[in-house]
Amino acid sequence: MRAAKKILLSGVKPTGRPHIGNYFGAMKQFVDLLNTGEYQCYFMIADYHALNLIQNAAEMRENIVELAIDYLAIGLDPKKAVIFKQSDVSAHTELAWIFDSITTMPYLMRAHAYKDAAAHDKEINVGTFNYPMLMAADILLYDADVVPVGADQKQHVEYARDTAQKFNNIFSPVFKLPNDLIIENVKTVPGTDGRKMSKSYGNTIGLFATDDEIRKAVMSIVTDSGAAGSSGVPVNVRAIHDLFRDKAYLDKLYEEKKGRYKDLKDALVADIQDFIRPLRERREEIATDRKKVIKILEKGATRARAVADETLERAKQSIGVTIK
Ligand code: ADP
Ligand code: TRP
Repeated sequence: MRAAKKILLSGVKPTGRPHIGNYFGAMKQFVDLLNTGEYQCYFMIADYHALNLIQNAAEMRENIVELAIDYLAIGLDPKKAVIFKQSDVSAHTELAWIFDSITTMPYLMRAHAYKDAAAHDKEINVGTFNYPMLMAADILLYDADVVPVGADQKQHVEYARDTAQKFNNIFSPVFKLPNDLIIENVKTVPGTDGRKMSKSYGNTIGLFATDDEIRKAVMSIVTDSGAAGSSGVPVNVRAIHDLFRDKAYLDKLYEEKKGRYKDLKDALVADIQDFIRPLRERREEIATDRKKVIKILEKGATRARAVADETLERAKQSIGVTIK
């Protein structure tokens, strides 16, 4: 008999257009791991996690379909993986409630996302505070072994592991303790201003950007910051370039063109354009049939529900609300 495949689950929030930071930090791992054939994969659109930001129905609908198209365009094959949206599987929010009841406020107050929001003196909604419990439910409902995410999500995955352990200790062993969850070699991609590339900083290069948009974004990369100037190597340009070419090639190029920022940026523009063009073209084609995309999500939801409902039922038995 063949050994059962390991299980992989990950998700992205439908909060706007993805950028190359999202891709190299997380989404590329989705495709690479799916294509190894070693994992049963679940790729989720985390719409309930986006609700603390997107509070407009038309925008939410649009973002969900757009993200589904993005998933397909980067190469997630719905024949090989389950692609679904979180809100279609009500077991997620139900299990999150169960987890809320065994989790303390001080524990959730240690979450980076909460601490950042609190440090900026923002009015934090309960959904943001509780975010790690819904994410723990996302992961644990599918007995996930591997959760490829960017480095900034690592703590959330640890919360899922802790929560599984806590539940199992209090009640009975229902949840698989996720091992080997974090892909360690993911890096944080810098944006055009040198800070972390992020939708909220307006410093992104879109994953499906047009040639003009790519050129404009690259030309805006900050090159005049301190050390970069003196060594003749524009660090931000090089850091982004590293995503698209190997080290030996770039070492040579950056030596040859030392101090010639315009030439180096032109080279980067060409490399990003070559990389993005086929992705963008595939995306345009997929986007012509939105009905098909919606069908894929419906099918994915049916498959996800079958697994999630069964795990939830085990949890309900374990806490004693199922009385048979
Ligand atoms: P954003 O900061 O642009 O809103 P999200 O929070 O939606 O991005 O992140 C989606 C996924 O992409 C997460 O797994 C996150 O870790 C990853 N990610 C986001 N920005 C970067 C980046 N600059 N470098 C690497 N990974 C990133
Ligand atoms: N919190 C993740 C992010 O901001 C998205 C997400 C929600 C997720 N649920 C998940 C990622 C479960 C992995 C597994 O990017």
